[in-house]
Amino acid sequence: MALLELSNITRDFGPPSNRIHVLRDINLSIDQGDFISIIGQSGSGKTTLMNILGCLDAPTSGSCLIDGEEAAGRDPDQLAALRRRKFGFIFQRYNLLGTLSARDNVALPAIYAGLKRSQRSRRAEDLLKQLALTGKENNRPGTLSGGQQQRVSIARALMNGGEIILADEPTGALDSESGLMVMDILTELHAKGHTIILVTHDRKLAAFASRTIELKDGEIISDTRRLPLSTPTPLERVEEKHGITFYSDQLAESFRMSLQAIISHKLRSLLTMLGIIIGIASVVSVVAIGKGSQEKILSRIKEIGTNTISVYPGKSWGDSRSGRIRTLTINDAKALGKQPFVLNITPQTSTNGNISYRNITLTGQLNGVGEQFFSVDGLELEGGRFFNETDVKEDNQVIVIDNNTRKELFPDMPLPQVLGRTILFKKRPLVIIGVTAESTNTFGPDSGQLRLWAPYTTVMHQITGDKVISTITAEIADTVNSQAAEETVTRLLTSRHGTQDFFTMNSDSIKETITATTGTMTLLISAIAVISLIVGGIGVMNIMLVSVTERTGEIGLRMAIGARQSNILQQFLIEAILICLAGGIFGVGLSVVIALLFNHFVTDFAMTFSTTSIVAAVLCSTVIGVIFGFVPARNAARLSPIEALTQK
Ligand SMILES: Nc1ncnc2c1ncn2[C@@H]1O[C@H](COP(=O)(O)OP(=O)(O)OP(=O)(O)O)[C@@H](O)[C@H]1O
Ligand SMILES: [Mg+2]
Repeated sequence: MALLELSNITRDFGPPSNRIHVLRDINLSIDQGDFISIIGQSGSGKTTLMNILGCLDAPTSGSCLIDGEEAAGRDPDQLAALRRRKFGFIFQRYNLLGTLSARDNVALPAIYAGLKRSQRSRRAEDLLKQLALTGKENNRPGTLSGGQQQRVSIARALMNGGEIILADEPTGALDSESGLMVMDILTELHAKGHTIILVTHDRKLAAFASRTIELKDGEIISDTRRLPLSTPTPLERVEEKHGITFYSDQLAESFRMSLQAIISHKLRSLLTMLGIIIGIASVVSVVAIGKGSQEKILSRIKEIGTNTISVYPGKSWGDSRSGRIRTLTINDAKALGKQPFVLNITPQTSTNGNISYRNITLTGQLNGVGEQFFSVDGLELEGGRFFNETDVKEDNQVIVIDNNTRKELFPDMPLPQVLGRTILFKKRPLVIIGVTAESTNTFGPDSGQLRLWAPYTTVMHQITGDKVISTITAEIADTVNSQAAEETVTRLLTSRHGTQDFFTMNSDSIKETITATTGTMTLLISAIAVISLIVGGIGVMNIMLVSVTERTGEIGLRMAIGARQSNILQQFLIEAILICLAGGIFGVGLSVVIALLFNHFVTDFAMTFSTTSIVAAVLCSTVIGVIFGFVPARNAARLSPIEALTQK
């Protein structure tokens, strides 16, 4: 049985309207162990015929039997398997991969055949030695002479066995001496049992072969045998391995190749990553800032510790009529205070005015409050005492000031001496009985506002003459539902006033509002960050498309030596994922740097990272790699080997 059997092969190119018939009705039988040269003028169809013989190209019609098996009509991966098993290609321009060492170039076909890494290297080194290239294993093709490069490519052709060596003008780019050396090697390989098919337009080189086939305008015009067919010597077989490690090995190889591609284009890879880095860093930072500020606010609310309901006149904040609504009274507060769920209650009224002590005069707000105010508001003392029920009942002229006021009015006086001194508010003397600690439960940074508290009775009766109060704040028991309590308060006051001319707020709902607001903000800014991630992803896709175009020749070569479509897909997909993943990791790193700077300069609250957001960010960048890398990778995998090889 013939090793290769072509019958009625035709190969046409171009659209039906403009068909070029390159090969017409080729019938050819090639036996094992033969040494054939195909000659003919330029354009006679030698390369086209060679590509069909080597399963790189499919004929338009006709049959092509390899070892008695039909090759025409097989899918790309089956053809790739055939090429791996049977053929070794030697190209005119060597087609070595510039980024790989001689050893790795030679070993390349065995990757796709599933040979282990150590075995591959050993075999590649053996082959290089046989081709007199000892010591050049680590050289890149660029540092080798033309003759040496062609010998590396011969070694590569032999890597998987190379039962049939297809050499298309292997000496075309070489000087005559190196050319003769290549011919000697081919003769030697023939003697060892390899079937050699050599394409040349040089009759002198064709004379090395045992049989010469001449093509003209796509037809065989002569077929002459110079030497009889020698009985074939059996060749050593290199078996494909599909062990357990096969897939992980292939994956590791794809990974290595991708890494190499990224490293060999450092700047480009970095710029591509930049989009992802910025996107991920902004997502992670924004989430951390949102979480940090939310935690801060919630912890401040928690410091109040209690659940409070406040009643204000008017319909809501900013109601212009609230100043004229004068229905909220002390009696309302007293009535509310009788409710079983109310633990503490304080009416509140306030007035602005001048505060003076000796020659210092300041402007501040005096709050008239009940004795329970301090526990409702969670205020703490630095020194002295808060006023009590008696103070309120008897309109005592006492005042509690905050630390800011103390610093302003008594700059150099120690705290104990401040207590008992009399200050004037709107010219009324008030005795200082207490100083509060630095307040922690106001929202936002301490504004430096002066805060003073006197019994509301004192304020209303002696200073303002008001009959109404501005706020009632009730501390309610933890055990009651704050919403139900709020409803009861509303019902009670509505019945007292005859109409609902007030509104209530409870600290629970404030808490919820804050959580919801910061949540919405985080979501909003994250959405913007996600858009930037998508833009980054498009950048990655763009670069991957460029990379595929740039490396079309490499893809063609890999396919020629037996890479499956999945191998190519994997390689480019992994490259995209690696870029995005690295971008994601750098992005998280960048946001950590941002956080360090932020926490250094902004003392109000700290950026808080959540593991979820970091994991999500890294996962997200991987997904972007898969999504935006897929199309370019699939494009690469779908290239036809012969088109990819010729398109450089
Ligand atoms: N993909 C293609 N599309 C259209 N025409 C093609 C294609 N490939 C080859 N041809 C045509 O087929 C003819 C034969 O090309 P081929 O490459 O086989 O010639 P060749 O004998 O190898 O020539 P050379 O000695 O110059 O390498 C040429 O006329 C070429 O223009
Ligand atoms: Mg050619």
